[in-house]
Amino acid sequence: MCGIIGYIGDSEARPRLVAGLQRLEYRGYDSAGIALADEELSVFKQAGTVGDLDLPVETPQTCGIGHTRWSTHGKPTDANAHPHTDCSGRVAVVHNGIIANYDELRETLPDHRFRSETDTEVVAHLVEAELEAGVDLRAAVAAVVDRIEGSYALGVVAAGYDGIVAARRNSPLVVGHGADGNFIASDVTPLLEHTRSVSYLEDGDVAHLTRDGVTVHQDGALVDRAVTTVEWDADAAEKGGYDHYMLKEIHEQPTALRQAIAGRIDPIEGRVELDDLSLSDDFLAGIDEVQFVACGTSYHACMYGKQLLEELADVRATVEFASEYDVGSGRDPERTLVVGVSQSGETADTLRALRTASRSGIRTLGVTNTVGSTMARECDDVVYIRAGPEIGVAATKTFASQVVVLALFALTVAERRSELDATVGRELVEHLQDLPGAVQGALDRDDAIEEVAVAYAAGEAFFFIGRRFGNPVALEGALKLKEISYDHAEGFPAGELKHGPLALVTEGTPVLAILTDGTRPEETRNNVKEVQSRGAPVIALTGAGQDGDYEVGFEVPELGLLEPLVANVYLQLFAYHVADDKGRAIDRPRNLAKSVTVE
Ligand code: F6R
Repeated sequence: MCGIIGYIGDSEARPRLVAGLQRLEYRGYDSAGIALADEELSVFKQAGTVGDLDLPVETPQTCGIGHTRWSTHGKPTDANAHPHTDCSGRVAVVHNGIIANYDELRETLPDHRFRSETDTEVVAHLVEAELEAGVDLRAAVAAVVDRIEGSYALGVVAAGYDGIVAARRNSPLVVGHGADGNFIASDVTPLLEHTRSVSYLEDGDVAHLTRDGVTVHQDGALVDRAVTTVEWDADAAEKGGYDHYMLKEIHEQPTALRQAIAGRIDPIEGRVELDDLSLSDDFLAGIDEVQFVACGTSYHACMYGKQLLEELADVRATVEFASEYDVGSGRDPERTLVVGVSQSGETADTLRALRTASRSGIRTLGVTNTVGSTMARECDDVVYIRAGPEIGVAATKTFASQVVVLALFALTVAERRSELDATVGRELVEHLQDLPGAVQGALDRDDAIEEVAVAYAAGEAFFFIGRRFGNPVALEGALKLKEISYDHAEGFPAGELKHGPLALVTEGTPVLAILTDGTRPEETRNNVKEVQSRGAPVIALTGAGQDGDYEVGFEVPELGLLEPLVANVYLQLFAYHVADDKGRAIDRPRNLAKSVTVE
Protein backbone atom coordinates (compact mmCIF):
# COMPACT_ATOMS: atom_id res chain seq x y z
CA MET A 1 0.00 0.00 0.00
CA CYS A 2 1.40 3.42 -0.95
CA GLY A 3 0.02 6.93 -1.16
CA ILE A 4 -0.11 8.96 -4.37
CA ILE A 5 -1.02 12.56 -5.09
CA GLY A 6 -1.06 14.87 -8.11
CA TYR A 7 -1.88 18.55 -8.67
CA ILE A 8 -2.27 20.81 -11.70
CA GLY A 9 -3.60 24.36 -11.34
CA ASP A 10 -2.74 28.02 -10.92
CA SER A 11 -0.70 27.70 -7.74
CA GLU A 12 2.70 26.28 -6.90
CA ALA A 13 2.49 22.47 -6.95
CA ARG A 14 5.29 21.59 -4.49
CA PRO A 15 3.69 22.68 -1.19
CA ARG A 16 0.41 21.01 -2.16
CA LEU A 17 2.14 17.76 -3.02
CA VAL A 18 4.26 17.72 0.14
CA ALA A 19 1.34 18.51 2.48
CA GLY A 20 -0.77 15.91 0.68
CA LEU A 21 1.89 13.23 1.03
CA GLN A 22 2.19 13.96 4.74
CA ARG A 23 -1.54 13.26 5.04
CA LEU A 24 -1.04 9.98 3.19
CA GLU A 25 1.91 8.75 5.21
CA TYR A 26 -0.28 6.31 7.13
CA ARG A 27 -0.30 4.30 3.86
CA GLY A 28 3.47 3.88 3.92
CA TYR A 29 6.45 5.95 4.86
CA ASP A 30 9.70 4.22 3.90
CA SER A 31 10.53 6.49 0.97
CA ALA A 32 9.00 9.48 -0.77
CA GLY A 33 9.33 11.68 -3.82
CA ILE A 34 7.79 14.26 -6.12
CA ALA A 35 8.09 15.09 -9.83
CA LEU A 36 7.40 18.63 -11.07
CA ALA A 37 6.67 19.15 -14.76
CA ASP A 38 6.71 22.14 -17.13
CA GLU A 39 8.88 22.22 -20.23
CA GLU A 40 11.36 20.15 -18.18
CA LEU A 41 10.89 17.40 -15.60
CA SER A 42 12.41 17.75 -12.10
CA VAL A 43 12.38 14.72 -9.80
CA PHE A 44 13.25 14.69 -6.07
CA LYS A 45 13.07 11.38 -4.25
CA GLN A 46 14.82 9.46 -1.50
CA ALA A 47 14.50 6.80 1.18
CA GLY A 48 12.95 8.16 4.37
CA THR A 49 9.81 10.07 5.19
CA VAL A 50 8.25 12.96 3.27
CA GLY A 51 9.77 15.32 5.83
CA ASP A 52 13.25 14.07 4.91
CA LEU A 53 12.89 15.09 1.24
CA ASP A 54 15.61 17.46 0.12
CA LEU A 55 13.69 20.04 -1.95
CA PRO A 56 14.73 23.38 -3.47
CA VAL A 57 13.16 26.49 -1.94
CA GLU A 58 11.99 27.91 -5.27
CA THR A 59 9.80 25.68 -7.42
CA PRO A 60 7.63 27.65 -9.84
CA GLN A 61 6.00 24.60 -11.46
CA THR A 62 2.23 24.30 -11.16
CA CYS A 63 1.94 20.64 -12.16
CA GLY A 64 3.34 17.58 -10.39
CA ILE A 65 2.87 14.17 -8.80
CA GLY A 66 4.08 12.67 -5.51
CA HIS A 67 4.38 9.36 -3.72
CA THR A 68 4.94 7.94 -0.26
CA ARG A 69 5.99 4.33 -0.38
CA TRP A 70 5.31 1.05 1.41
CA SER A 71 7.80 -1.26 -0.27
CA THR A 72 6.63 -4.42 -1.99
CA HIS A 73 9.15 -4.93 -4.81
CA GLY A 74 12.62 -3.78 -3.89
CA LYS A 75 14.07 -2.40 -0.66
CA PRO A 76 13.35 1.12 0.59
CA THR A 77 16.28 2.86 -1.19
CA ASP A 78 16.68 6.15 -3.07
CA ALA A 79 16.64 4.30 -6.40
CA ASN A 80 13.47 2.40 -5.59
CA ALA A 81 11.61 5.51 -4.36
CA HIS A 82 8.91 6.88 -6.70
CA PRO A 83 8.45 8.75 -9.04
CA HIS A 84 10.14 6.49 -11.58
CA THR A 85 11.35 7.89 -14.86
CA ASP A 86 12.02 6.61 -18.37
CA CYS A 87 15.41 6.56 -20.14
CA SER A 88 15.04 10.12 -21.44
CA GLY A 89 14.11 11.48 -18.00
CA ARG A 90 11.04 13.15 -19.51
CA VAL A 91 8.30 10.82 -18.18
CA ALA A 92 7.58 10.32 -14.46
CA VAL A 93 5.25 7.77 -12.87
CA VAL A 94 3.86 7.17 -9.37
CA HIS A 95 2.07 3.91 -8.64
CA ASN A 96 0.16 2.17 -5.87
CA GLY A 97 -0.47 -1.55 -6.37
CA ILE A 98 1.39 -4.52 -7.77
CA ILE A 99 2.20 -5.08 -11.44
CA ALA A 100 2.14 -8.87 -11.54
CA ASN A 101 3.57 -9.25 -15.06
CA TYR A 102 6.34 -6.64 -14.77
CA ASP A 103 9.10 -9.13 -15.55
CA GLU A 104 7.41 -10.13 -18.78
CA LEU A 105 6.80 -6.48 -19.74
CA ARG A 106 10.41 -5.60 -18.98
CA GLU A 107 11.58 -8.27 -21.39
CA THR A 108 9.72 -6.46 -24.19
CA LEU A 109 12.02 -3.45 -23.65
CA PRO A 110 15.55 -4.81 -24.22
CA ASP A 111 17.01 -1.42 -25.17
CA HIS A 112 15.78 0.42 -22.09
CA ARG A 113 17.99 1.18 -19.11
CA PHE A 114 16.33 0.30 -15.79
CA ARG A 115 17.57 1.88 -12.58
CA SER A 116 15.41 0.33 -9.85
CA GLU A 117 14.24 -3.07 -8.63
CA THR A 118 10.59 -2.01 -8.63
CA ASP A 119 7.64 -3.33 -10.62
CA THR A 120 6.61 0.30 -11.32
CA GLU A 121 9.55 1.50 -13.39
CA VAL A 122 8.46 -0.57 -16.36
CA VAL A 123 5.43 1.71 -16.74
CA ALA A 124 7.63 4.78 -17.34
CA HIS A 125 9.55 2.93 -20.07
CA LEU A 126 6.40 1.57 -21.69
CA VAL A 127 4.94 5.09 -21.77
CA GLU A 128 8.19 6.36 -23.29
CA ALA A 129 7.95 3.73 -26.04
CA GLU A 130 4.36 4.73 -26.79
CA LEU A 131 5.24 8.45 -26.90
CA GLU A 132 8.07 7.69 -29.34
CA ALA A 133 5.44 6.12 -31.59
CA GLY A 134 3.82 9.57 -31.80
CA VAL A 135 0.72 9.38 -29.59
CA ASP A 136 -0.08 11.86 -26.80
CA LEU A 137 0.34 11.09 -23.08
CA ARG A 138 -3.28 10.10 -22.50
CA ALA A 139 -3.27 7.62 -25.37
CA ALA A 140 0.14 6.33 -24.28
CA VAL A 141 -1.03 5.59 -20.72
CA ALA A 142 -4.26 4.01 -22.02
CA ALA A 143 -2.22 1.67 -24.24
CA VAL A 144 0.13 0.76 -21.39
CA VAL A 145 -2.54 -0.04 -18.81
CA ASP A 146 -4.14 -2.43 -21.30
CA ARG A 147 -0.98 -4.55 -20.99
CA ILE A 148 -0.72 -4.51 -17.19
CA GLU A 149 -1.84 -7.45 -15.05
CA GLY A 150 -2.34 -6.84 -11.36
CA SER A 151 -3.44 -3.75 -9.51
CA TYR A 152 -2.59 -0.12 -10.07
CA ALA A 153 -3.44 3.46 -9.30
CA LEU A 154 -1.15 5.51 -11.53
CA GLY A 155 -0.25 9.16 -11.92
CA VAL A 156 1.88 10.13 -14.93
CA VAL A 157 3.41 13.46 -16.03
CA ALA A 158 5.78 14.28 -18.89
CA ALA A 159 7.98 17.26 -19.75
CA GLY A 160 6.32 19.59 -22.25
CA TYR A 161 2.90 18.01 -21.76
CA ASP A 162 0.19 20.06 -20.12
CA GLY A 163 -1.61 17.75 -17.73
CA ILE A 164 -1.60 14.69 -15.52
CA VAL A 165 -2.83 11.32 -16.73
CA ALA A 166 -4.19 8.95 -14.08
CA ALA A 167 -5.52 5.40 -14.25
CA ARG A 168 -6.78 2.79 -11.83
CA ARG A 169 -7.62 -0.90 -11.44
CA ASN A 170 -8.11 -2.57 -8.04
CA SER A 171 -6.29 0.27 -6.23
CA PRO A 172 -8.08 3.39 -5.02
CA LEU A 173 -7.86 6.74 -6.81
CA VAL A 174 -9.92 9.89 -6.23
CA VAL A 175 -10.07 13.05 -8.34
CA GLY A 176 -10.44 16.37 -6.49
CA HIS A 177 -12.02 19.36 -8.27
CA GLY A 178 -10.69 22.54 -6.62
CA ALA A 179 -11.15 26.25 -7.20
CA ASP A 180 -7.49 26.74 -8.09
CA GLY A 181 -6.74 23.41 -9.71
CA ASN A 182 -7.42 19.70 -9.92
CA PHE A 183 -5.97 16.82 -7.92
CA ILE A 184 -5.58 13.07 -7.84
CA ALA A 185 -5.03 11.21 -4.58
CA SER A 186 -5.18 7.72 -3.07
CA ASP A 187 -7.98 8.90 -0.81
CA VAL A 188 -9.74 12.14 0.05
CA THR A 189 -7.53 12.94 3.07
CA PRO A 190 -5.12 15.29 1.32
CA LEU A 191 -7.86 16.94 -0.72
CA LEU A 192 -10.02 18.24 2.11
CA GLU A 193 -8.01 21.38 2.76
CA HIS A 194 -8.48 22.35 -0.91
CA THR A 195 -11.86 20.96 -1.93
CA ARG A 196 -14.70 18.69 -0.86
CA SER A 197 -15.78 18.08 -4.47
CA VAL A 198 -14.49 14.73 -5.61
CA SER A 199 -15.17 12.01 -8.13
CA TYR A 200 -14.18 8.38 -7.67
CA LEU A 201 -12.51 6.69 -10.62
CA GLU A 202 -13.67 3.19 -11.54
CA ASP A 203 -11.60 0.19 -12.58
CA GLY A 204 -10.34 0.67 -16.13
CA ASP A 205 -10.73 4.49 -16.09
CA VAL A 206 -8.06 6.72 -17.59
CA ALA A 207 -8.41 10.34 -16.46
CA HIS A 208 -6.80 13.45 -17.96
CA LEU A 209 -6.43 16.43 -15.63
CA THR A 210 -5.66 19.93 -16.88
CA ARG A 211 -5.93 23.34 -15.15
CA ASP A 212 -9.40 23.76 -16.60
CA GLY A 213 -11.01 20.40 -16.00
CA VAL A 214 -10.96 16.63 -15.93
CA THR A 215 -12.03 14.15 -18.59
CA VAL A 216 -12.33 10.40 -18.02
CA HIS A 217 -12.17 7.64 -20.64
CA GLN A 218 -13.02 3.96 -20.29
CA ASP A 219 -12.10 1.64 -23.21
CA GLY A 220 -11.47 4.73 -25.34
CA ALA A 221 -14.96 6.20 -24.80
CA LEU A 222 -15.61 9.36 -22.81
CA VAL A 223 -17.46 8.58 -19.55
CA ASP A 224 -19.02 10.71 -16.87
CA ARG A 225 -17.96 10.23 -13.24
CA ALA A 226 -20.28 12.04 -10.85
CA VAL A 227 -18.81 14.80 -8.69
CA THR A 228 -19.88 14.32 -5.06
CA THR A 229 -19.35 16.32 -1.90
CA VAL A 230 -17.33 14.74 0.91
CA GLU A 231 -18.87 15.13 4.36
CA TRP A 232 -15.94 13.78 6.43
CA ASP A 233 -13.60 15.90 8.41
CA ALA A 234 -9.92 15.34 7.76
CA ASP A 235 -9.46 13.05 10.78
CA ALA A 236 -12.22 10.66 9.78
CA ALA A 237 -10.97 10.63 6.22
CA GLU A 238 -7.57 9.38 7.30
CA LYS A 239 -9.36 6.31 8.58
CA GLY A 240 -11.24 6.08 5.30
CA GLY A 241 -14.47 7.08 7.05
CA TYR A 242 -14.19 4.29 9.65
CA ASP A 243 -14.19 5.14 13.35
CA HIS A 244 -11.01 3.16 13.98
CA TYR A 245 -8.03 1.91 12.03
CA MET A 246 -8.83 -1.59 13.26
CA LEU A 247 -12.24 -1.53 11.60
CA LYS A 248 -10.74 -0.09 8.43
CA GLU A 249 -8.10 -2.80 8.38
CA ILE A 250 -10.68 -5.54 8.93
CA HIS A 251 -12.49 -4.16 5.88
CA GLU A 252 -9.27 -3.99 3.87
CA GLN A 253 -8.91 -7.78 3.98
CA PRO A 254 -10.25 -8.54 0.48
CA THR A 255 -7.67 -6.15 -1.00
CA ALA A 256 -4.88 -7.42 1.24
CA LEU A 257 -5.66 -11.02 0.27
CA ARG A 258 -5.67 -10.17 -3.44
CA GLN A 259 -2.28 -8.54 -2.99
CA ALA A 260 -0.95 -11.59 -1.13
CA ILE A 261 -1.63 -13.85 -4.11
CA ALA A 262 -1.07 -11.34 -6.95
CA GLY A 263 1.42 -12.75 -9.45
CA ARG A 264 1.93 -15.86 -7.30
CA ILE A 265 -0.64 -18.11 -8.98
CA ASP A 266 -0.30 -18.92 -12.68
CA PRO A 267 -3.74 -17.91 -14.00
CA ILE A 268 -3.74 -20.58 -16.72
CA GLU A 269 -2.14 -23.58 -15.00
CA GLY A 270 -3.41 -22.67 -11.52
CA ARG A 271 0.09 -23.45 -10.22
CA VAL A 272 1.67 -21.56 -7.35
CA GLU A 273 4.81 -19.59 -8.20
CA LEU A 274 6.35 -18.27 -5.01
CA ASP A 275 9.32 -16.74 -6.78
CA ASP A 276 10.73 -15.15 -3.63
CA LEU A 277 11.62 -18.59 -2.27
CA SER A 278 15.12 -19.73 -3.16
CA LEU A 279 15.14 -23.07 -1.30
CA SER A 280 16.47 -25.73 -3.63
CA ASP A 281 14.51 -28.83 -4.64
CA ASP A 282 17.25 -30.98 -3.11
CA PHE A 283 17.01 -29.21 0.23
CA LEU A 284 13.23 -29.56 0.32
CA ALA A 285 13.30 -33.18 -0.83
CA GLY A 286 15.65 -34.08 2.04
CA ILE A 287 14.03 -32.01 4.77
CA ASP A 288 12.93 -33.79 8.00
CA GLU A 289 11.16 -30.97 9.77
CA VAL A 290 9.87 -27.40 9.49
CA GLN A 291 9.77 -25.45 12.76
CA PHE A 292 7.52 -22.38 12.86
CA VAL A 293 8.34 -19.66 15.41
CA ALA A 294 6.21 -16.59 16.13
CA CYS A 295 4.28 -14.69 18.82
CA GLY A 296 0.63 -13.78 19.40
CA THR A 297 -1.49 -13.54 16.28
CA SER A 298 1.42 -14.57 14.08
CA TYR A 299 1.74 -17.71 16.23
CA HIS A 300 -1.90 -18.54 15.48
CA ALA A 301 -1.23 -18.07 11.77
CA CYS A 302 1.66 -20.54 12.13
CA MET A 303 -0.66 -23.09 13.78
CA TYR A 304 -2.80 -22.89 10.65
CA GLY A 305 0.26 -23.06 8.39
CA LYS A 306 1.71 -26.07 10.18
CA GLN A 307 -1.44 -28.12 9.59
CA LEU A 308 -1.55 -27.10 5.93
CA LEU A 309 2.09 -28.02 5.45
CA GLU A 310 1.74 -31.43 7.08
CA GLU A 311 -1.41 -32.20 5.18
CA LEU A 312 -0.16 -31.11 1.75
CA ALA A 313 3.57 -31.77 1.81
CA ASP A 314 3.85 -34.78 4.10
CA VAL A 315 6.59 -33.19 6.18
CA ARG A 316 6.75 -32.97 9.97
CA ALA A 317 6.04 -29.46 11.21
CA THR A 318 6.05 -27.93 14.68
CA VAL A 319 5.02 -24.51 16.04
CA GLU A 320 6.75 -22.92 18.98
CA PHE A 321 6.26 -19.66 20.82
CA ALA A 322 9.32 -17.74 19.71
CA SER A 323 10.09 -16.79 23.32
CA GLU A 324 10.30 -20.51 24.22
CA TYR A 325 12.23 -21.67 21.19
CA ASP A 326 15.34 -23.73 21.50
CA VAL A 327 16.77 -25.87 18.71
CA GLY A 328 16.31 -28.96 20.91
CA SER A 329 18.05 -32.25 20.47
CA GLY A 330 17.86 -34.99 17.88
CA ARG A 331 17.70 -32.69 14.87
CA ASP A 332 19.98 -32.55 11.86
CA PRO A 333 20.43 -28.80 11.16
CA GLU A 334 20.95 -29.52 7.47
CA ARG A 335 17.54 -31.19 7.24
CA THR A 336 15.61 -28.61 9.27
CA LEU A 337 14.03 -25.31 8.20
CA VAL A 338 12.93 -22.64 10.68
CA VAL A 339 10.16 -20.31 9.48
CA GLY A 340 9.71 -17.08 11.47
CA VAL A 341 6.41 -15.25 10.96
CA SER A 342 6.05 -11.62 12.04
CA GLN A 343 3.93 -8.73 10.81
CA SER A 344 6.47 -6.14 11.92
CA GLY A 345 9.59 -8.19 11.29
CA GLU A 346 10.94 -6.56 14.46
CA THR A 347 9.53 -8.69 17.30
CA ALA A 348 12.50 -9.35 19.59
CA ASP A 349 11.38 -12.84 20.66
CA THR A 350 10.99 -13.98 17.05
CA LEU A 351 14.32 -12.48 16.00
CA ARG A 352 16.02 -14.20 18.93
CA ALA A 353 14.54 -17.57 17.93
CA LEU A 354 15.67 -17.11 14.32
CA ARG A 355 19.18 -16.14 15.41
CA THR A 356 19.33 -19.18 17.69
CA ALA A 357 18.39 -21.41 14.76
CA SER A 358 20.85 -19.70 12.47
CA ARG A 359 23.72 -20.12 14.94
CA SER A 360 23.04 -23.86 14.92
CA GLY A 361 23.42 -23.95 11.16
CA ILE A 362 19.68 -24.16 10.44
CA ARG A 363 18.37 -22.34 7.37
CA THR A 364 15.81 -19.60 8.16
CA LEU A 365 12.85 -18.21 6.22
CA GLY A 366 11.09 -15.00 7.28
CA VAL A 367 7.45 -14.32 6.45
CA THR A 368 6.73 -10.66 7.13
CA ASN A 369 4.76 -7.60 6.10
CA THR A 370 7.67 -5.23 6.42
CA VAL A 371 10.22 -4.76 3.66
CA GLY A 372 13.60 -3.76 5.04
CA SER A 373 12.76 -5.05 8.55
CA THR A 374 15.40 -6.80 10.67
CA MET A 375 13.74 -10.14 9.94
CA ALA A 376 13.86 -9.49 6.19
CA ARG A 377 17.53 -8.55 6.39
CA GLU A 378 18.70 -11.38 8.64
CA CYS A 379 16.84 -14.44 7.31
CA ASP A 380 18.28 -16.58 4.53
CA ASP A 381 15.01 -16.21 2.60
CA VAL A 382 12.08 -13.85 2.92
CA VAL A 383 8.52 -13.90 1.60
CA TYR A 384 6.33 -10.80 1.98
CA ILE A 385 2.65 -10.94 2.83
CA ARG A 386 1.97 -7.53 1.16
CA ALA A 387 -0.93 -6.58 3.44
CA GLY A 388 -0.05 -2.86 3.53
CA PRO A 389 0.53 -0.88 6.73
CA GLU A 390 -1.38 -2.07 9.78
CA ILE A 391 -1.82 0.73 12.28
CA GLY A 392 -4.35 -0.66 14.76
CA VAL A 393 -2.46 -2.46 17.52
CA ALA A 394 -4.65 -5.56 17.17
CA ALA A 395 -3.50 -7.51 14.12
CA THR A 396 -6.37 -8.30 11.74
CA LYS A 397 -5.72 -8.20 8.01
CA THR A 398 -2.17 -9.43 8.49
CA PHE A 399 -3.40 -12.66 10.13
CA ALA A 400 -5.42 -13.55 7.03
CA SER A 401 -2.54 -12.59 4.72
CA GLN A 402 -0.04 -14.62 6.77
CA VAL A 403 -2.20 -17.73 6.53
CA VAL A 404 -2.63 -17.26 2.78
CA VAL A 405 1.11 -16.89 2.24
CA LEU A 406 1.75 -19.97 4.41
CA ALA A 407 -0.78 -21.84 2.23
CA LEU A 408 1.19 -20.77 -0.87
CA PHE A 409 4.36 -21.91 0.90
CA ALA A 410 2.82 -25.30 1.76
CA LEU A 411 1.70 -25.78 -1.85
CA THR A 412 5.17 -24.88 -3.10
CA VAL A 413 6.92 -27.27 -0.71
CA ALA A 414 4.45 -30.06 -1.55
CA GLU A 415 5.04 -29.58 -5.26
CA ARG A 416 8.82 -29.51 -4.96
CA ARG A 417 8.69 -32.71 -2.86
CA SER A 418 6.39 -34.31 -5.46
CA GLU A 419 3.84 -34.87 -2.71
CA LEU A 420 1.07 -32.64 -4.04
CA ASP A 421 -2.16 -34.44 -4.80
CA ALA A 422 -3.28 -32.65 -7.97
CA THR A 423 -6.96 -32.49 -7.00
CA VAL A 424 -6.26 -31.24 -3.48
CA GLY A 425 -3.81 -28.65 -4.82
CA ARG A 426 -6.17 -27.37 -7.51
CA GLU A 427 -9.02 -27.10 -5.00
CA LEU A 428 -6.93 -25.13 -2.51
CA VAL A 429 -5.73 -22.77 -5.25
CA GLU A 430 -9.33 -22.16 -6.32
CA HIS A 431 -10.32 -21.51 -2.74
CA LEU A 432 -7.43 -19.06 -2.33
CA GLN A 433 -8.71 -17.18 -5.36
CA ASP A 434 -12.29 -17.18 -4.00
CA LEU A 435 -11.28 -16.18 -0.47
CA PRO A 436 -11.35 -12.35 -0.97
CA GLY A 437 -14.95 -12.56 -2.23
CA ALA A 438 -16.00 -14.80 0.66
CA VAL A 439 -14.38 -12.42 3.15
CA GLN A 440 -16.28 -9.55 1.53
CA GLY A 441 -19.47 -11.56 2.08
CA ALA A 442 -18.72 -11.71 5.81
CA LEU A 443 -17.90 -7.99 5.91
CA ASP A 444 -21.24 -7.24 4.28
CA ARG A 445 -22.90 -8.73 7.38
CA ASP A 446 -21.24 -6.22 9.69
CA ASP A 447 -24.55 -4.74 10.87
CA ALA A 448 -25.91 -8.16 11.87
CA ILE A 449 -22.70 -8.99 13.75
CA GLU A 450 -22.82 -5.65 15.54
CA GLU A 451 -26.34 -6.44 16.75
CA VAL A 452 -25.21 -9.80 18.14
CA ALA A 453 -22.09 -8.28 19.73
CA VAL A 454 -24.10 -5.59 21.49
CA ALA A 455 -26.65 -8.18 22.67
CA TYR A 456 -23.92 -10.34 24.26
CA ALA A 457 -21.42 -7.64 25.27
CA ALA A 458 -22.30 -7.96 28.95
CA GLY A 459 -21.08 -11.59 29.13
CA GLU A 460 -18.99 -12.42 32.23
CA ALA A 461 -16.49 -14.25 30.04
CA PHE A 462 -16.32 -15.52 26.46
CA PHE A 463 -15.11 -18.91 25.27
CA PHE A 464 -14.06 -19.82 21.76
CA ILE A 465 -13.88 -23.41 20.61
CA GLY A 466 -12.87 -25.21 17.40
CA ARG A 467 -11.00 -28.26 16.21
CA ARG A 468 -8.25 -28.66 13.64
CA PHE A 469 -8.09 -25.44 11.54
CA GLY A 470 -10.81 -24.11 13.84
CA ASN A 471 -8.44 -24.30 16.82
CA PRO A 472 -6.04 -21.48 15.80
CA VAL A 473 -9.05 -19.39 14.80
CA ALA A 474 -10.67 -19.98 18.22
CA LEU A 475 -7.43 -18.86 19.92
CA GLU A 476 -7.19 -15.84 17.63
CA GLY A 477 -10.85 -14.89 18.23
CA ALA A 478 -10.27 -14.95 21.99
CA LEU A 479 -7.03 -12.95 21.71
CA LYS A 480 -8.75 -10.24 19.65
CA LEU A 481 -11.60 -9.91 22.12
CA LYS A 482 -9.45 -9.84 25.26
CA GLU A 483 -6.93 -7.34 23.93
CA ILE A 484 -9.41 -4.71 22.79
CA SER A 485 -12.44 -5.21 25.09
CA TYR A 486 -10.48 -6.25 28.24
CA ASP A 487 -13.04 -9.02 28.79
CA HIS A 488 -12.01 -12.43 29.96
CA ALA A 489 -11.86 -14.45 26.75
CA GLU A 490 -10.25 -17.84 26.15
CA GLY A 491 -9.90 -20.16 23.22
CA PHE A 492 -9.66 -23.96 23.49
CA PRO A 493 -9.44 -26.94 21.21
CA ALA A 494 -13.12 -27.95 21.43
CA GLY A 495 -12.31 -31.41 22.81
CA GLU A 496 -10.36 -29.93 25.74
CA LEU A 497 -13.36 -28.09 27.14
CA LYS A 498 -14.60 -31.07 29.12
CA HIS A 499 -11.15 -31.57 30.68
CA GLY A 500 -11.41 -28.50 32.89
CA PRO A 501 -12.62 -25.25 31.34
CA LEU A 502 -16.22 -26.53 31.32
CA ALA A 503 -16.28 -25.67 35.05
CA LEU A 504 -16.32 -21.99 34.04
CA VAL A 505 -19.29 -22.27 31.68
CA THR A 506 -22.57 -20.70 32.86
CA GLU A 507 -25.59 -18.85 31.38
CA GLY A 508 -23.39 -15.74 31.51
CA THR A 509 -20.57 -17.05 29.31
CA PRO A 510 -21.29 -16.94 25.58
CA VAL A 511 -19.45 -19.65 23.64
CA LEU A 512 -18.35 -18.92 20.06
CA ALA A 513 -18.02 -22.21 18.18
CA ILE A 514 -16.31 -22.77 14.82
CA LEU A 515 -18.16 -25.50 12.95
CA THR A 516 -17.11 -24.95 9.35
CA ASP A 517 -15.43 -27.35 6.96
CA GLY A 518 -11.87 -28.12 8.06
CA THR A 519 -12.81 -28.18 11.76
CA ARG A 520 -14.40 -31.63 12.30
CA PRO A 521 -17.75 -29.96 13.08
CA GLU A 522 -19.57 -33.24 13.75
CA GLU A 523 -17.37 -33.75 16.83
CA THR A 524 -17.55 -30.13 18.00
CA ARG A 525 -21.35 -30.27 17.87
CA ASN A 526 -21.16 -32.59 20.93
CA ASN A 527 -19.20 -29.92 22.80
CA VAL A 528 -21.78 -27.35 21.77
CA LYS A 529 -24.46 -29.54 23.39
CA GLU A 530 -22.35 -29.79 26.55
CA VAL A 531 -22.17 -26.03 26.99
CA GLN A 532 -25.79 -25.45 26.00
CA SER A 533 -26.94 -27.94 28.63
CA ARG A 534 -25.11 -25.74 31.19
CA GLY A 535 -27.11 -22.74 29.96
CA ALA A 536 -24.42 -21.03 27.83
CA PRO A 537 -25.63 -19.30 24.67
CA VAL A 538 -23.79 -20.46 21.51
CA ILE A 539 -22.82 -18.22 18.61
CA ALA A 540 -22.04 -20.70 15.84
CA LEU A 541 -20.05 -20.19 12.65
CA THR A 542 -21.07 -23.01 10.39
CA GLY A 543 -20.40 -24.25 6.91
CA ALA A 544 -23.00 -23.67 4.18
CA GLY A 545 -26.28 -25.52 4.68
CA GLN A 546 -25.33 -27.04 8.05
CA ASP A 547 -28.33 -26.92 10.31
CA GLY A 548 -28.10 -26.84 14.07
CA ASP A 549 -29.81 -25.56 17.14
CA TYR A 550 -27.81 -22.47 18.10
CA GLU A 551 -28.77 -19.21 19.82
CA VAL A 552 -27.09 -17.36 16.92
CA GLY A 553 -25.73 -18.79 13.67
CA PHE A 554 -23.71 -17.35 10.79
CA GLU A 555 -22.93 -19.39 7.68
CA VAL A 556 -19.74 -19.15 5.66
CA PRO A 557 -19.69 -20.20 1.99
CA GLU A 558 -18.00 -23.40 0.77
CA LEU A 559 -14.28 -22.86 0.80
CA GLY A 560 -12.80 -26.12 2.10
CA LEU A 561 -9.85 -25.70 4.46
CA LEU A 562 -10.07 -21.90 4.22
CA GLU A 563 -13.58 -21.67 5.70
CA PRO A 564 -12.24 -21.02 9.23
CA LEU A 565 -10.47 -17.92 7.84
CA VAL A 566 -13.85 -16.50 6.86
CA ALA A 567 -15.25 -17.44 10.29
CA ASN A 568 -12.35 -15.43 11.72
CA VAL A 569 -13.70 -12.25 10.07
CA TYR A 570 -16.95 -12.69 12.04
CA LEU A 571 -14.90 -13.06 15.22
CA GLN A 572 -12.86 -9.92 14.44
CA LEU A 573 -16.04 -7.90 13.93
CA PHE A 574 -17.59 -9.41 17.06
CA ALA A 575 -14.56 -8.36 19.12
CA TYR A 576 -14.55 -4.91 17.55
CA HIS A 577 -18.21 -4.22 18.28
CA VAL A 578 -18.07 -5.56 21.87
CA ALA A 579 -15.09 -3.25 22.52
CA ASP A 580 -16.75 -0.33 20.76
CA ASP A 581 -19.91 -0.82 22.80
CA LYS A 582 -17.77 -0.49 25.92
CA GLY A 583 -16.03 2.62 24.60
CA ARG A 584 -12.54 1.08 24.67
CA ALA A 585 -9.45 2.65 23.07
CA ILE A 586 -9.63 0.15 20.22
CA ASP A 587 -6.62 1.27 18.18
CA ARG A 588 -4.38 1.60 21.23
CA PRO A 589 -5.42 -0.93 23.87
CA ARG A 590 -3.91 -0.41 27.32
CA ASN A 591 -0.51 -1.94 28.06
CA LEU A 592 0.06 -3.10 24.47
CA ALA A 593 2.35 -1.97 21.65
CA LYS A 594 2.21 -2.67 17.94
CA SER A 595 5.75 -3.88 17.71
CA VAL A 596 7.28 -5.59 20.74
CA THR A 597 11.00 -5.04 20.48
CA VAL A 598 11.95 -6.32 23.94
CA GLU A 599 12.34 -9.94 25.03
C1 F6R B 1 -2.32 -9.32 18.55
C2 F6R B 1 -1.03 -8.82 18.14
C3 F6R B 1 0.19 -9.43 18.74
C4 F6R B 1 1.23 -9.66 17.64
C5 F6R B 1 2.57 -10.15 18.26
C6 F6R B 1 3.58 -10.48 17.19
O1 F6R B 1 -3.36 -8.66 17.92
O2 F6R B 1 -0.96 -7.94 17.34
O3 F6R B 1 -0.11 -10.62 19.39
O4 F6R B 1 0.73 -10.61 16.75
O5 F6R B 1 3.09 -9.16 19.10
O6 F6R B 1 3.84 -9.37 16.39
P1 F6R B 1 4.55 -9.54 14.98
O7 F6R B 1 3.62 -10.27 14.09
O8 F6R B 1 4.83 -8.14 14.53
O9 F6R B 1 5.80 -10.33 15.24
